[in-house]
Amino acid sequence: MISSYGKKEDFPIFKKKVNGKSIVYLDSTATTQKPKQVLDAIVNYYEGANANVHRSVYKLADEATEMYENSRTNVGRFIGADSNEIVFTRNTTESLNLLSFTIGESLKRGDRILITSMEHHSNILPWMRLEERGIKLDYAGLDGEGHLDIEDMKSKLKKDTKIVSVTHQSNVLGTINPIQEIGKLAKDNGSTFIIDAAQSVPHMPFRVREEYDFVAFSGHKMLGPMGIGVLYGKYHLLEEMPPFNRGGEMIKEVDFHRAVFEDPPIKFEAGTPNVEGAVGLSAAIDYLKKIGMEDVRRHEKYLTSMTLKNLDGMKNVTYYGPRDVEERGGVIAFNVRDASNLKKNLENKNVKVDRVYHSHDIATFLDDRNVYVRSGYHCAEPLMRTLNLSGTARASFYVYNGDDDVKAFISSLSEI
Ligand SMILES: Cc1ncc(COP(=O)(O)O)c(C=O)c1O
Repeated sequence: MISSYGKKEDFPIFKKKVNGKSIVYLDSTATTQKPKQVLDAIVNYYEGANANVHRSVYKLADEATEMYENSRTNVGRFIGADSNEIVFTRNTTESLNLLSFTIGESLKRGDRILITSMEHHSNILPWMRLEERGIKLDYAGLDGEGHLDIEDMKSKLKKDTKIVSVTHQSNVLGTINPIQEIGKLAKDNGSTFIIDAAQSVPHMPFRVREEYDFVAFSGHKMLGPMGIGVLYGKYHLLEEMPPFNRGGEMIKEVDFHRAVFEDPPIKFEAGTPNVEGAVGLSAAIDYLKKIGMEDVRRHEKYLTSMTLKNLDGMKNVTYYGPRDVEERGGVIAFNVRDASNLKKNLENKNVKVDRVYHSHDIATFLDDRNVYVRSGYHCAEPLMRTLNLSGTARASFYVYNGDDDVKAFISSLSEI
């Protein structure tokens, strides 16, 4: 394991036994488990400082506001941004919808948005919505190994392309996209550049750069609680944007038919915010910083290469995405062929029966052995169509996984 942090002992859920046996959690791409330090921070907030923020003058409210705003500063520092460039949302999905309903609304008929064929639905549907107004949605394609086809992306980057929005790391293929290069292409073209960083900020060192206009990610995918997400935006862009939701606390002044909005980021945080979520996310960041993001990435590379090596030796297993662990994160989508039919095919050379197990059957089989993997489309149906697949099983790793989890996964899989 990578350091004294990141150990299973810090994560109370791993004390859980199912049918008398420990669980092997391999679904951190969907959501991560939470260390005690995060759970304690949330309880401490409720036991010691709970009050509504930004609206009262008494001491407890001051304390709650300070905790909320300190959390914002901590999130900002983690990605190299100023705290006033950090908008708290519910999750990546809400961050991207915020952009669709603000900058997206300023697009005109004939304008274009460029995304890729490997996007999660939350970086597709908010943009697809705008097609109803005559805005064109383009998809950059992939090569045979699941890398982004940069030449295809260049050819689809038109003068009318106003927005380029790309996932940093695919939640299915694991592909890590060359985000700096894409950002430069977008900026040279005069396009707004948005990064879906739901699978990168939690898993590797990440610093905002000049080319990055907006970055979206979720707290629950990086040891934090559910219901807290982040939208980073360059301050001058946030200033120019209209609000997303309207209501309490996001205004400076309200008359009967007129309102003056607060400055960013509060302009985008209408109503009572998720203070416990922000505090929990900040504790999660402290925890990750103690491990070090370089080591988080190194650890995931180690587990991934160990797993891929084992899968390479299983002739009835196909996995997807780049072969080189330098080009991919700790997420492995795979399918399993019915080996008995394969055997029959070999024995009986003319019979072509080659059945791929349904991914839910694989996940159910593994579940019987307490190995928890995701199955299905992984909220990336256009990618599944591109790959001509009806789904995959998917194993994914995080800081608390170790050799023992890889071994349990591989030995359970080899029983199929
Ligand atoms: C690449 C990517 N983008 C966006 C999302 C959506 O995240 P959330 O459900 O937290 O909004 C996910 C979730 O799996 C993801 O993997």
